Amino acid sequence: MKILFLNGPNLNLLGQREPEVYGRTTLANIEAAVRARAKQLKAGVDFRQSNVEGELVDWIQQAKGRFDVIVINAAAYTHTSIALRDAIAAVGVPTIEIHLSNVHARENFRRKSLIAPVCCGQIAGFGLKSYILAVEASVHVNEMAKSN
Ligand code: DQA
Repeated sequence: MKILFLNGPNLNLLGQREPEVYGRTTLANIEAAVRARAKQLKAGVDFRQSNVEGELVDWIQQAKGRFDVIVINAAAYTHTSIALRDAIAAVGVPTIEIHLSNVHARENFRRKSLIAPVCCGQIAGFGLKSYILAVEASVHVNEMAKSN
C-alpha cells in the first residue's frame, strides 16, 4: 500500500517555530520516523510539504489511483480551506487529518476543522507520534477499504 503524507504552511519551519507548542523536532526528523515505521508495516510513503494552498489541492487531486490513503496536516488551512475540503471529497481517497498539537485545547479558531467532515478520522496532540499513529491508522483504513 502507498500513503501520501501532505504537510501545509509553516511546517517547513518545525524545530525553530514556536518550540513551546511544536517542540524541537524538524520536519526531516518526522519524515525519517514515518519512513521507518512505514517500512516495518510494508507501506510505501511519499512525504511532501507546501506553503501554497493550490499545490496541496493539486497533490490531493493527483493522489487518485496512485495512493491508497492520504494523511494530511493541513496546518492553518485546516481552519480556512474549503478548497482542500472539496478536493478531499472529490477524489474519494481515504484521508486522515493529523496535527502535532491538540488543536481543541488551543485558541477557539483552531477548534473548527473544515476538512474533518470529509476525513475518516483525526489524530491530534501527540507531536511526532501523531504522524506514527497516522501510519498505523492508514494501514487499518486501507484494510477496511479493501474488505468493503
Ligand atoms: C497544526 C495546528 C494548526 O492550528 C496550526 O495552524 C499549524 C500546525 C499542528 O500540527 O498542530 O500550523 O496543524
